[in-house]
Amino acid sequence: AEATLRLSNGGAIPVLGLGVWQAADGPETERAVEWALEIGYRLIDTAQAYRNEASVGRAIRSSGIPREDIFLTTKFYPGNKDPRAEAEKSLERLGTDYLDMYLIHWPQSGPTWAWPGMEASVEAGLTKGIGISNFSAAEVQELLKTSQIQPAVNQIQFSPFEYRAALVAACEDAGIVAQAYSPLGTGRHLGDPVVARIAAATDHTPAQVLIRWAVQKGLSVIPKSTHRERIEENFAVFDFELDAEAVSALDALDTTGQTDEALGQKWWS
Ligand code: A2P
Repeated sequence: AEATLRLSNGGAIPVLGLGVWQAADGPETERAVEWALEIGYRLIDTAQAYRNEASVGRAIRSSGIPREDIFLTTKFYPGNKDPRAEAEKSLERLGTDYLDMYLIHWPQSGPTWAWPGMEASVEAGLTKGIGISNFSAAEVQELLKTSQIQPAVNQIQFSPFEYRAALVAACEDAGIVAQAYSPLGTGRHLGDPVVARIAAATDHTPAQVLIRWAVQKGLSVIPKSTHRERIEENFAVFDFELDAEAVSALDALDTTGQTDEALGQKWWS
């Protein structure tokens, strides 16, 4: 069985998923999702802002895999006003009748205003779980003061170079699963010499080393690729372990001082 993490809503989220940020709507996204499901991925991560939900939905339906065996995440685009109405539109585009996880894509106009609509989406049966993305530790704390349903997930940019240990610890303390997007630094980290050295020493690839590092930090991880051989490579990270020396060498690549501030986190404002 696939490795999963327990969620505060009672569910379980796969450790490894396919992200489709920057995958074009149409055959590119459709094929990537079909391949991922064939290879064994059971977590697919899309968003309203990616404009490829229809392709994700087509690929899920054509896979023949029962819907309940797949963990499907989409994200509320916070330039809109009504999370519940937007969830209904997402479901229509995805051609399915529920989401597994529905995230606020980023805390535009503050961390709390959209949450009641997210909670209403759960109560209406549109999604099993709700969470957040790109929230800082302070924004998580603010949301927790007013939420009736706790966020189950905080999806954040996370790699050895963007290693917000304090944010991950804050999520863990609050019972929130942290999920890593851009674990490869959108591809920019694959050529790093430290990563290359550890890849050679472990007989794996740089992408596998970066993904494995995030898995060992306890996160769910969603590398993006639209190439079949890379989708396959990125999934093959459960047959090796990074030792303490390798982990600390990777930890030392951090450029953020393990805080949010250095990241330019608020790219959306
Ligand atoms: P592509 O989609 O053309 O395969 P991240 O997950 O950090 O956002 O990184 C995604 C980027 O890294 C994409 O440009 C993707 O390209 C590339 N990529 C994903 N997996 C691999 C891999 N195993 N080897 C090389 N490049 C990869």
